[in-house]
Amino acid sequence: MCIRSGEWVIISNIKDIVLKYAKSLRARIFVIVLLVGLVPIFLMKHLILENYEELAAQQKSTLIQNQCQQIVDQVGSSGYIRDVGNTQVDRQLTQLANIYNGRVIIVNSNFRIVRDTYEIDEDKVIISEEVLQCFLGTDSTNYNPDDEFLELTLPVSNPGTGQIEGIMIVSVTTQDVKDGKDALGSTVLILQVVLTLLIFVAAYYVARVLTKPFGKITRSLAGVQGGVSEEISIPDYTETKLLAEAYNEMLHRLKKQEDSRQEFVSNVSHELKTPITSMKVLADSLLAQDEVPNELYKEFMADIAEEIDRENKIISDLLSLVKMDKRSADINIQETNINDLIELLLKRLKPIAATKNVDLVLENYKPVVAEVDETKLALALSNLVENGIKYNQDNGWVHISLNVDSKYFYVKVEDSGIGIPQEEQESIFERFYRVDKSHSREIGGTGLGLAITRSAVLMHHGTIKVQSEEGVGTTFTVSIPLKYVP
Ligand SMILES: Nc1ncnc2c1ncn2[C@@H]1O[C@H](COP(=O)(O)OP(=O)(O)OP(=O)(O)O)[C@@H](O)[C@H]1O
Ligand SMILES: [Mg+2]
Repeated sequence: MCIRSGEWVIISNIKDIVLKYAKSLRARIFVIVLLVGLVPIFLMKHLILENYEELAAQQKSTLIQNQCQQIVDQVGSSGYIRDVGNTQVDRQLTQLANIYNGRVIIVNSNFRIVRDTYEIDEDKVIISEEVLQCFLGTDSTNYNPDDEFLELTLPVSNPGTGQIEGIMIVSVTTQDVKDGKDALGSTVLILQVVLTLLIFVAAYYVARVLTKPFGKITRSLAGVQGGVSEEISIPDYTETKLLAEAYNEMLHRLKKQEDSRQEFVSNVSHELKTPITSMKVLADSLLAQDEVPNELYKEFMADIAEEIDRENKIISDLLSLVKMDKRSADINIQETNINDLIELLLKRLKPIAATKNVDLVLENYKPVVAEVDETKLALALSNLVENGIKYNQDNGWVHISLNVDSKYFYVKVEDSGIGIPQEEQESIFERFYRVDKSHSREIGGTGLGLAITRSAVLMHHGTIKVQSEEGVGTTFTVSIPLKYVP
């Protein structure tokens, strides 16, 4: 028993159409539940009706067969086939035909009809598959639901000789089976309608309940006024819980970004203001005196020039940082000889190192050519070497080494300087971060150098690591891919 292909086509067409137009999850769940519910209902109708018909026809044929068997025995024993004059047997045949509103035919061994209760075909010859089979001893029952009749073919034997002398064909109408099926069909239809309505309601309800948390999410998100502290919580499903968690995490990240942006702005303002304040103080004190000695004038002007240099450095550092923070589209990648690049920057830093008598040494120096942005990488590396000099003792050393493998090249900047406390090592790459504020200030740092270095390294998809021990020295290791991948 299977659902008819026509109904499958209808169901799958409905599914396709609804899924095409039902873009919302709620509509889809509704349709799926509906289809899952309706298929068994359609199946149920066919199952019940066809089973009923089969069973009713079978029962009817068994009943008739039993009654016919008694009459067949009488037909056989009375010799009715040879002489149809036996009125008692004849009456029984007529009675049988009347009870079932059917027709009884007796055929003799010459295939000639000797008795037809309809009295139409008497004396005619009848040959059919069933008749031939019956003469061989096989009785048959044929049920034809379309024409609504049941036909039984039974052999009539002579009890004396045991030979088949003829056959009896009984055809009865099965209108009653059909009526019963129709009546049952109406009941099933009512049941189907009721169940379909129930399934509609159930599908609507299920779809509503299952999609409710999504409405909650929408409302929660719509309710967020832009304040990054507003977390949402939708614990209904694991999925909605994860979604809310991801959203809350994103909020935290945004908050951190916002905090760092604000901190940056206030740091920038502060750092830019400091040299200006100093200049203002110096200028005011000069203006306040009437007779300023020439030496004092010179000294103050030198201080003002120093502050201008400082202001200048901060501004150019900020500009570098802003450039690095922009998209990597601004990066100017070229095949570059890294050895030349390092040699050049060391040459430039030599005079600064000389002021502290710090030894700049190149060691383990492999030839390297890589795809890099020359200016940005030079800036990054010179910041490291400059720190190595700045945060060093007098007569200290800075060792620079260049190594390479199949994928990366490595620049190591090692110094014999003051070192960085363990707990500060993570923070030194932050903008404006300085370990020892007063000392750095005295040295002349703004805390932007390592932030610039890190941005430049990240732009090249490289990494930077720091290793340091207080009072012993610091080692920065930069690794950059030989081939630039945008
Ligand atoms: N090689 C080093 N040895 C010891 N401390 C260091 C070293 N490099 C950096 N630091 C510490 O990390 C801080 C941040 O370094 P960074 O280069 O970012 O800023 P800066 O040197 O103070 O200023 P800038 O480089 O902008 O002139 C420094 O202030 C210093 O305290
Ligand atoms: Mg620095």
